[in-house]
Amino acid sequence: MTDRECTEFLQWCLPRLRLRWAGFRKVRRQICKRLTRRLCELGLPHAAAYRTYLSSHPNEWKTLDTLCRITISRFYRDRGVFDTIGRKILPTLAEKALTDKEPQIRCWSAGCGSGEEPYTIHMIWRLRVAPKLDSDLPIRITATDTSRILLDRASNARYTGSSIKDLPTKLRDAGFVKSGDGYTVRENFKENIEFLEQDIRSESPDGTFHLVLCRNLVFTYFEPTLQSEVLERIVRKLVPGGFLIAGIHEKIPGGIADLVPHEKTPGIYRLESDNVSKKGGGSSGYASPPAHPGDVDG
Ligand SMILES: C[S@@+](CC[C@H](N)C(=O)[O-])C[C@H]1O[C@@H](n2cnc3c(N)ncnc32)[C@H](O)[C@@H]1O
Repeated sequence: MTDRECTEFLQWCLPRLRLRWAGFRKVRRQICKRLTRRLCELGLPHAAAYRTYLSSHPNEWKTLDTLCRITISRFYRDRGVFDTIGRKILPTLAEKALTDKEPQIRCWSAGCGSGEEPYTIHMIWRLRVAPKLDSDLPIRITATDTSRILLDRASNARYTGSSIKDLPTKLRDAGFVKSGDGYTVRENFKENIEFLEQDIRSESPDGTFHLVLCRNLVFTYFEPTLQSEVLERIVRKLVPGGFLIAGIHEKIPGGIADLVPHEKTPGIYRLESDNVSKKGGGSSGYASPPAHPGDVDG
């Protein structure tokens, strides 16, 4: 499949999956490779034939949906964000939880990939935040993703050197055991993390959260109305005073007046009160979207 043929096909099919071309533009080649393989499996000569196939085989749309997932991630991705989470956000949440006599900090990593993000949070908590507290307040992390394969990798917790290259040395040394040519997360960092297979378009984990990370997924790849629907659901899951972390290049939809940018680190928002249903107004975001939002995974 040529680049032009694939681009035209994606511009046709992505809106039908409630996804947005602008998010995929920079990363389209990996999707195009998968599409070419799929056409081969089905014995179809070109994208037009695949379009016809889709109209006569409605179930194929589910397969196409899974082919359109970008799965790139790594530990401590976007250093400034995790520095801020460790220096300011988790300590603020811990202080409030202790004042409110809460038994734990609850975090949701939505679109957790192979576990890089939830393990990073746990390492920061145990190695940087918890030692400074006058209490043994635990963190509980719920990590969700729609891919069973990635969730199994997350449970195995074995990674290549390139996955952990952005981690500060102290976290890397304390967080992993070297095994062969890979690195395995130490057992104590696997505690208190639950991995769940969930599609964020229709599902969310039970309970409420002090911290939600939803990075490089909804606000890059989903079409605007779906972004707003998912954002509203996420905000209902946040406790008042809780934080939402989006990707550093992502702009979240406006309309939730109490979700306000926090300090100067792009992608960090705080829910100021529990009134989350206000509509109207401008954007809550201040980060300009990149020319091609797919840059985040490019
Ligand atoms: C680009 S990765 C981002 C991983 C991580 N959040 C980060 O920023 O490094 C996007 C992740 O979202 C997952 N994903 C895609 N569509 C999803 C959906 N509808 N519901 C839940 N997870 C989804 C993918 O499987 C992938 O693991």
